[in-house]
Amino acid sequence: MATERTLSIIKPDAVAKNVIGEIVTRFEKAGLKVVEMQMKSLSQAEAEGFYAEHKERPFFADLVAFMTSGPVVVQVLEGENAIAQNRELMGATNPKEAAEGTIRRDFAESIDANAVHGSDSAASAEREIGYFFGN
Ligand code: PPS
Repeated sequence: MATERTLSIIKPDAVAKNVIGEIVTRFEKAGLKVVEMQMKSLSQAEAEGFYAEHKERPFFADLVAFMTSGPVVVQVLEGENAIAQNRELMGATNPKEAAEGTIRRDFAESIDANAVHGSDSAASAEREIGYFFGN
């Protein structure tokens, strides 16, 4: 399996709950290495640009409002099969459907405040890492 990089965001709900460390520990224990990390407050334009592929979806305005409601932690994770591995650690988008032991099952409240984001493909990872950290 190849070493990959993926973009992870710890969302405002998880930052507010004071579980940044617990989430990062899960990545590290699974063998993913944090190779970039920045805490920041997204502007409206940054959040809209990041989620541009969803701009026609009915929840777009709510998603942007949520992602700009407080600081987030943007990270690049590196490791074997990092993109799929991170998605597995995160669990399903809706925490009510997320498997036991996943980040969303343990820390998320709802589909709109779901603790973490992770790139869903190699193409997304490349775009998303470039969006926040350049090439
Ligand atoms: S996926 O896995 O990216 O295809 O998931 P998807 O269901 O398409 O959701 C894309 C992102 O939108 C968020 N989302 C929502 N936000 C607010 N309200 C509602 N109802 C809602 N449904 C989905 C979801 O958390 C995904 O955010 P990211 O940051 O990509 O995980």
